[in-house]
Amino acid sequence: MELQEAIRERRSVRKWLEKKIPEKTINQLIDAASWAPSSCNRQAVKILAVQEKEGREFLGRITNGGVGFAHKAPLLLLFMADSRVYSLPVERHTPHLDCAAAIQNLLLKAHELGLGAVWLNWCLNQKSEAETYKRFKIPAYFTICSLVAAGYPAIKAEDIPRKPLEQFFVREKF
Ligand SMILES: Cc1cc2nc3c(=O)[nH]c(=O)nc-3n(C[C@H](O)[C@H](O)[C@H](O)COP(=O)(O)O)c2cc1C
Repeated sequence: MELQEAIRERRSVRKWLEKKIPEKTINQLIDAASWAPSSCNRQAVKILAVQEKEGREFLGRITNGGVGFAHKAPLLLLFMADSRVYSLPVERHTPHLDCAAAIQNLLLKAHELGLGAVWLNWCLNQKSEAETYKRFKIPAYFTICSLVAAGYPAIKAEDIPRKPLEQFFVREKF
């Protein structure tokens, strides 16, 4: 697939077939994510892949971004970053930036492989956040950034329009 085609035609998918994603395909997704740029090449991103039904149901219950549908995805990917490598207070957003770059790579690769995925907000209250760390035995030094739900699409996602380019950027100064 041409890069332009992948960028232009990838859409968020929120309905999936009940079809397992092969291990090889999951590895291709994770590999694509791993080649994303990262701050100072610290490569702090870690992805927790959840296929097991109980784990998906847990995340489906706890998610704020995928309420009512995330648990139906055959694969849920929790993106987090090892916060120990971001030592300065001014770097507090960097785990999220590193995860975002990895997520976008993964979404494009998913599209190329015929999968449909959606990036899901992760904005939990303290109790739900703590339950998640406990449920998956996530070490406390990881910052959880986002959830991604993926599977083989059950529907063709509608095209979502974008702003015209002249509204999207400015040249030299406002
Ligand atoms: C940071 C971020 C958070 C998002 N959170 C959610 C979410 O919680 N639930 C959801 O259904 N979609 C979520 N999305 C997907 C957006 O709704 C989607 O990308 C946008 O509507 C454009 O559609 P497209 O991806 O099909 O081009 C999120 C996307 C981003 C980048």
